[in-house]
Amino acid sequence: MPDPLLDHSNLAAALDLAAREAKAYLAGIDAAPVRPRGGVEVSETTLPDEGVGSLAALSELVDAAVEGSTRSAGPRFFHFVMGGGTPAALAADWLTPALDQSAYNWVSSAFASRLEQISLAWLKDLFGLPAAWSGVITTGATMANFAGLAAARRWWGLQQGADVEADGLTGLPPMTILSSGYVHVSALKAVAMLGLGRDRVLKLSRDGVGRIDLEALASVLRERDPEPVVIIANAGDVNTGDFDPIAEIVALARKHRAWVHVDGAFGLFAAVSPTTSHLVEGLEHADSVGVDGHKWLNVPYDSGYAFVRDPDYLGGAFGASAAYLGREGAMRPVFGNLGPEMSRRARSLAVWATLRAYGRDGYRSMVERHLRLARRVAEQVDAAPDLERLADVSLNVICFRYRPPGVPEEQLDALNRRLGDLVLEDGRVYFGTTVYDGKVVFRPAIVNWRTREEDVDLIVATVRELGARAVDQAVASQAPAQASVEPAGAAEPAEAAEPQR
Ligand SMILES: Cc1ncc(COP(=O)(O)O)c(C=O)c1O
Repeated sequence: MPDPLLDHSNLAAALDLAAREAKAYLAGIDAAPVRPRGGVEVSETTLPDEGVGSLAALSELVDAAVEGSTRSAGPRFFHFVMGGGTPAALAADWLTPALDQSAYNWVSSAFASRLEQISLAWLKDLFGLPAAWSGVITTGATMANFAGLAAARRWWGLQQGADVEADGLTGLPPMTILSSGYVHVSALKAVAMLGLGRDRVLKLSRDGVGRIDLEALASVLRERDPEPVVIIANAGDVNTGDFDPIAEIVALARKHRAWVHVDGAFGLFAAVSPTTSHLVEGLEHADSVGVDGHKWLNVPYDSGYAFVRDPDYLGGAFGASAAYLGREGAMRPVFGNLGPEMSRRARSLAVWATLRAYGRDGYRSMVERHLRLARRVAEQVDAAPDLERLADVSLNVICFRYRPPGVPEEQLDALNRRLGDLVLEDGRVYFGTTVYDGKVVFRPAIVNWRTREEDVDLIVATVRELGARAVDQAVASQAPAQASVEPAGAAEPAEAAEPQR
């Protein structure tokens, strides 16, 4: 097939093939093992001179994809924090590349721009954020944190009479950035990308791993006054699902010159249920917020949202213009100038469709189901004599470890790490380990719209079954601790072991 034009007539057949295979894949996903049984078998390793045409290429791809794909869109993938795609979101997302809109401005696509405007307005409503805030769709929470913190950096520069976007950071003092032990690695990455120095973030928690220490925060803010300071508050710690106290942080910030950015990648969904909305109390008084779509909103990868109180800051941080790109009035936000990307996929289609399809009540129902399921797992952990829960379940993450009687404390980290590998190899359920409070633990997170009781019941059952087997094997090999278990204290550093998604 020497030229795509000669393939023109195969387009409909190629789309049908993809749809047929995708439907078959998804029809089996509720029951399929999460870990693919096949390897990653993709035939050609060198670029072919002569192509095979769309249908042959698609068939090859489908074979490899069905064999090799992790069933992360399914109901028993509890690793990291990964949602699936609701029927409405997935179908709308399929349309997105077919329409292939560039969501830069109203000239490139009025449809995509308007849909982004409406989607962001609905999301603000869902999370209880003021309608007047500006916002932009990003590729995920990393870039949403980046956008929120870029707005913060602009504010911080202007407080000192500097236009950072025009003139850079040269000559300015280092920025004081305060957070807690819950700060996510992606927020640190955003700080690094902004040239502010990842290692400059001060973690103000009593033990270095947990919730913000408000007394320490008050005292640092007092000491630094009137220096402008940026605070990153965390709504949903990846290891435990716990929250920094946003209302108290914002109240302290308001007494000084401080910008509060909230990383609510998944935790912002606490706002959706009256049973958990207290966890994000005070959110509407923050300055910027980042949240993910491909987690609890259950839109397909990739999608995230940044919201900023003062509409000027996103535009100031990301504005760019050229004569050929034209101008827009104030009522028509140029989304390509409110975030890092200019040419952008129309991610709003999936967001609009899922919110239109299920509404506020549908999301509340799903989130509350997940909260119940997380508590159910916590009860099973508590009832098991060989499991230990390490943190309260305030949201959708259950932090626990295998702790069978007779295994000394100093061998538990290695045992749990080995067990983590076994759980992933087994593939019935899927979640790995992290390091929390200096211990190797599991932290399954429940966010997928498909997940039901029978799925979460496999969490405890699988860990206990594989755990017992791991201990038996260690005993059989005559050197229980030493054979299968590395010495205690050999855990990788907490940061390296933290889940990244
Ligand atoms: C609290 C938190 N913030 C930010 C992120 C980064 O999100 P993404 O990987 O979608 O960019 C995550 C991902 O797990 C997260 O849990």
